[in-house]
This record gives sequence, structure tokens and C-alpha cells, in this order.
Amino acid sequence: GAIQAADLPLMPPSAMPSGQPLSPLVQLANQSDQSAVFEADLEAKVVEMELAGGKKTEVWAYNGQLPGPQIVVNEGDTVRIRFKNSLSQPTTIHWHGLAVPEAQDGNPQDEVLPGQTRLYEFKIAENSAGTYWYHPHPHGLVAEQVYMGLAGSLIIKSKTDPFAHLQEQHWLISDLRLDQDGRIPPNTLSDWINGREGEFVLINAQLTPQISLNGNQRLRIWNATSARYFRLHLPNVEWIVVGTDGGLLEEPLSAGDELFLVPGQRLEVIPRISQNGTATLISRYYDRRKMMVREAPTTLTLAKVELTQTDVALPQRLRTFAALPPVAVKRTVVFRERMASGMNGDTAGMLQNMFLVNDQVFDMKRIDFEGKQGETEEWLLFNSSHMDHPFHIHGTQFELINRTLNGETRQEPYRAKRDILNLKPMEKALIRFVQTEKGLKMFHCHILEHETLGMMAMLQVK
Ligand code: C2O
Ligand code: CU
Repeated sequence: GAIQAADLPLMPPSAMPSGQPLSPLVQLANQSDQSAVFEADLEAKVVEMELAGGKKTEVWAYNGQLPGPQIVVNEGDTVRIRFKNSLSQPTTIHWHGLAVPEAQDGNPQDEVLPGQTRLYEFKIAENSAGTYWYHPHPHGLVAEQVYMGLAGSLIIKSKTDPFAHLQEQHWLISDLRLDQDGRIPPNTLSDWINGREGEFVLINAQLTPQISLNGNQRLRIWNATSARYFRLHLPNVEWIVVGTDGGLLEEPLSAGDELFLVPGQRLEVIPRISQNGTATLISRYYDRRKMMVREAPTTLTLAKVELTQTDVALPQRLRTFAALPPVAVKRTVVFRERMASGMNGDTAGMLQNMFLVNDQVFDMKRIDFEGKQGETEEWLLFNSSHMDHPFHIHGTQFELINRTLNGETRQEPYRAKRDILNLKPMEKALIRFVQTEKGLKMFHCHILEHETLGMMAMLQVK
């Protein structure tokens, strides 16, 4: 997309209605009457909405909804999504975190052209219960399509869920930038380099909603922003993490008073509330080393929360992970930025060559690694750059083994299934995973601007 030369006057956050009761995410209705089949239509389309300042805003939305409708399925289900692209540019739907066949994963090689329809059909893997999402993945257009509004949540339920009796509460966090006229403006140069952070930070598309929280709730949280890092803090609440991107942990784990959530990541949490009353959900400042901007540390206010203390006894054992087969192949993946000498001249060209995986920008036709179905891969991830980059790989969940920063290696004390891992500048991490489906698996930085600019590569699983 075009680069906006400078920051235009923006819509002030006070222009959007706030303080309304939190709306639950709207579920996509299942149109199938067969058991174990989920069937529905999704359409990516342009709609106008009144979001702020009494102005009409053009958004791109699945079925015209912000956030996109939530898909809820069971392990073992067959999913059939009839998708229509009513945008004026190509798109795809990528099922973030799911193990699906190559042709169904919304890869950049499988564009759905404007006006076209296609069927996405896949089976939900056993043992994959967890908190996922879906978003577009066409080459070079991802960042724009997501900041224009295309993203939705997906939950896989299990028949043996130890928390089936709890109420669920869902927070899908996104952000939005509006100019004075209510339009969603294109990225600035700083957005392309640092990742775009919209000024309106929303939960379920609402600004600072009013939330009721008690200890009998399983909270699922999505970070569906392009580039915002959250350190969520709620006074009088201890966050008990029970699940990560790929579902339940083996045991509940206290995160203390702060939940760290990077772009693309999800968590399942049970709040342990020590006092009744009203509290403010904030995100503490995280210094993720942006380039060429001087940013004052700020604390974000996300919601007003009414807390009700409820004592819940958590089971000690939530799940048991099978051991991974012995490591069959080891690889190294390096994230790096190439700084052009002199920023005058060809800005677009500079950006197109700036964000690298193993010293290359993404090429849809280049296979970077070949691997085998069912084999354990061990990857050493190295962020040899000046900025944080959240690593993501398609088609699987990985386990973090250890991470190394400033010469110090820390073993990961517990096992967890993730598909996103933040790497700080100069940090290394060792991960292991198995791919169960054949085909092309992208791996990339989940700051969507970096992905769009080519900080992405491909593993072909045979
Ligand atoms: Cu959510 Cu390839 O990404
Ligand atoms: Cu990045």
C-alpha cells in the first residue's frame, strides 16, 4: 500500500463512545444439521460504520462484523467455510494455529481473487482444543487487511475439558486508527518500520468497556493487534494462566499481577480475585525498542472492571503432553534488519529489503527448508536485530525449551503449546515441534508490517 507522508490530524480517543457494558463476541451460526460438521458462510466485504465522532468509517469486515464472527467447533469436527471475497483486492483466510492441509490454510500462493468464492474444508485435529483465530494472508496485503478490520476468533472445544463448568469471557484486543474525518489512514513510514499501533485500543471492538469479572470464569484473551505489546494489570487480581495458544497447560501457573501478551498471542486465564470492587484494567508500558521515534512511556487504560471475589478450587492436573519423538533435524532461523545507508531516495525500495529471515526477504516460490511429516524439528531462533519480533509458524504448536539473553540461558520450567514467541533484541530461543500435515508452512514475524514486508520464510513438509 501507499505510504502516508506524515501523521495527519487524528480522531481523538474521546470521540468514540466508551464505558458501555462489554458485548460478547458474536458466534457464527452452524448451518449444518449433521453431527460433527460445522458449515457456514464468511464474506470479506466493505461496510460503513459509525465508530467515532459521528463520522462514517469504511471498514473491511468478515460478514460486516467487527470483530469477525467467532467460530466454535469441537475436536474431530469437519469444518466447511464457504468464503466470498467481496473486496477489491485478493485475500485468503489463514487459520492461525491450526494444523490443516496445505490447500486449506490460506497460504499466499492460494489467493481468492476479488469476486471469487471458494470452500475452505478441513478437519479439526484431535487434542487441539484451544484458542485460535483467523485472518487474511495474501502476500504483501496482510497488514492493511487486518488494520481495516479483517480478523476473527476461533475456539476448539474438547470433550474432556476440566473447565467445562465455568462461564467463558472473551477479550479480543485490537486497535484502530482514525483520522479526523473518520477514515482509517494508510501506514506511515514509522508504522512500516515499527509496526502500526492504532490509537483506539479496543476489547471486542469497544473502547474502555465496562466488564464484570468473577473467579468462576475462564477468560480467553486474544492479541489481534498488528504490533501492540500488552502487560495487563488489574488491581486485586492474580492471573492464573491455564492455557496458551494451543490449549491447556499441564498445570495451572500463576503469572502474578501481570499478563504479557504479544501480537498474535492468546492466553486462557482464571482470575484470582482478592477483593470486591471496581478496578481499572491497564497495560503497563513495554519498551520494545522502536526505531527513529522518541516515545514517552505510557500506561494504557483498557477497561473498567467490576470484581466479584469467588473462590474456585483449580484442578492440579489439567492435561498431559505426550513426549515428542527424538529430534530429527536442527535448524537456525535468524531475524535481522538491514539498515539502508541514507534514508533519502527510494523509501519503498528500502522497506522492501529491510526485514530479513536468514538474510533474505520472503519469496513465494522459494522453499527455505524441507522437513518431514511427523519428525521432530528443533529450531534455534535468533533475533539479531534492534527490535522485538514475535516469531510465528503455521500448522503446529511448538514447545519452548530454553532462551538465552545476555549470555544467560534459562530452561523453560514448564511445557506449553504455543505458536507465537516473542524474541527480544539479541535473544535466542530453542523450540521443538512436529508438523502433522504436509505442505507449505510459512514462518514469520507476527508484527504484520514486518510480515508484509517479507520477514517470512517457508518450510515445506513432505
Ligand atoms: Cu497469524 Cu502467518 O499468521
Ligand atoms: Cu518483526
